[in-house]
Amino acid sequence: IQWYPGHMAKAQKQIKERLKAVDLILEIVDARVPESSINPMIAELGQNKPTLLIMNKADMADAKRTQQWIETFKKRGITAIALDAQHKSKLPQIEKVAQEILADKLAKKRAKGILNPVIRAMCVGVPNVGKSTILNRLVQKNIAVTGNRPGVTKNQQWLKAGQSLELLDTPGVLWPKFEDPAVGNKLALTGAISDAIYHPDDVVVYALDYFKDFYPQQLVKEYHVTPAELEMPAPDLIMALTKRLGFKEDYDRFCMKFITDARKGKLGRFTLDIVPVEAH
Ligand code: GTP
Repeated sequence: IQWYPGHMAKAQKQIKERLKAVDLILEIVDARVPESSINPMIAELGQNKPTLLIMNKADMADAKRTQQWIETFKKRGITAIALDAQHKSKLPQIEKVAQEILADKLAKKRAKGILNPVIRAMCVGVPNVGKSTILNRLVQKNIAVTGNRPGVTKNQQWLKAGQSLELLDTPGVLWPKFEDPAVGNKLALTGAISDAIYHPDDVVVYALDYFKDFYPQQLVKEYHVTPAELEMPAPDLIMALTKRLGFKEDYDRFCMKFITDARKGKLGRFTLDIVPVEAH
């Protein structure tokens, strides 16, 4: 999708409208970029409603960093969980943590005589983080629980997504917000930015420098990078690897391959957001 200010304003308005009707926001982020894929607009649009941060695609992220990020978020007052939405067995955790976050509210409802209070939630996040996958996996046979409810746009439905969890049927997509070009490169490498708007060579220069620092063995394993090459500046390494792969001087071809390999998990698990020092 191409995003223009008009689209963005409309999407934001719709999300704001729909968030009014929920008890809990399920903000989905990519565990490989848990901080860079947060959209600060969501807290604003949701008027600081209780939020569960779901670090999805944890199967592709650096497990140690995922744990450290969960602790970091906790210190910031944010409940975060790691998820691999492709494994259905992990999904019930979402409902359990949702109940914990809303424990007080649910207790009040029970005290008022509501025996099985329902939690209404909506998935939101930047593109490609797995919102639809999570929604589809959570929802049981696509059964709509009720028709429209106050505060929700017509033609939106609540779907049963657990014992006490109901989800709005469409996830909210928000464009990632960033000023830092490094964040743009991270989001491009993990697929949250559409291919039309970034330069593959910028992304790969950024990524090679990062992998050289943090995951050198993964470069050695996939591209047989030598110790001397690990010392090279990234542009020189791109030239060396392009040649090694038989792409002659087609550097773009190597860059596209690198991005595809990273997204497919061929370069191993990685996390691009560095954990702030206090969490170590
Ligand atoms: P938009 O519609 O662009 O906003 O995307 P989305 O956030 O709804 O993401 P979607 O559910 O379409 O998932 C994007 C891709 O990620 C798909 O190819 C999914 O199969 C894949 N995916 C989703 N969750 C996971 C996960 O936990 N692990 C891995 N490895 N892949 C996942």
